[in-house]
Amino acid sequence: MRDRTAGLADRLFVLPSPEELARAAAGRLWGIVRERAAAAGRSKGAASAVHVALSGGSTPRRTYETLSSEPYRDRFPWAAVHFHQVDERFVPPGDPRSNGRLLREALFSRVPVPPGNVHLVDTTLPGPAAAARKYEEELRRAFPDPPGGFPRFDAVLLGLGADGHTASLFPGDEALAERTAWVVGSTGGEPAIARVTLTLPVLCAAAQVIFLVEGRAKAESLRRLVEGTGDAPAARVVPRRGAITILADREAAGESGAGTEKR
Ligand code: 6PG
Repeated sequence: MRDRTAGLADRLFVLPSPEELARAAAGRLWGIVRERAAAAGRSKGAASAVHVALSGGSTPRRTYETLSSEPYRDRFPWAAVHFHQVDERFVPPGDPRSNGRLLREALFSRVPVPPGNVHLVDTTLPGPAAAARKYEEELRRAFPDPPGGFPRFDAVLLGLGADGHTASLFPGDEALAERTAWVVGSTGGEPAIARVTLTLPVLCAAAQVIFLVEGRAKAESLRRLVEGTGDAPAARVVPRRGAITILADREAAGESGAGTEKR
């Protein structure tokens, strides 16, 4: 487990452009899934399905479009992977702000993933609390009685806000303090709206956490994340038995000092 005070400079990989950042993120997800699917094929003991949780917002669109294009589209073991949402804005499914709409448009409508492998927050319910309950029930069916009490996603793709939020866990929001539920309602963003999000214990139970960070507006929050300074929500994602990878473009990493530049 990473020492909270230790930095993450050795986990920061800087890509020269947003396009190369998207390719690195798609490649990382594919690598994790391919390895886990192979392990599941080799040993009957290993969980057969691979579980990935994906964030919304604007940054990951390019990554999802890359993943749903060649060469990944043909190589990705779509039928072996269950896709979940990290968080959702509580807006109608067709709303341009919907993370589920982003995922459907940029990924699920373009690849042969079985519909039963896609698990989205239902924002047609009366409110975020009901949506959180239903989504948690669906998660508990996917992860029955997990060791440690929280689902261990094989990969969680997270974004980073300029304020240091991640998922829909915003500074000062009570959702950040949740230590029992897997999914809760929260509030945040600009303008602040109701949301549904995986909780911190779930993010910390993941095997692989990938932060995807693009643009100069994130430079300060990325610097704090990498240096381990401040106490932003993103800094509290400390996988108990897992690894963190931070993928950033030069714009975001410009003020974060040296990072391993991937060519
Ligand atoms: C959301 C996301 C959120 C996002 C960050 C970064 O619903 O908004 O899940 O956590 O990852 O806000 O967003 P951008 O990628 O749009 O900068």
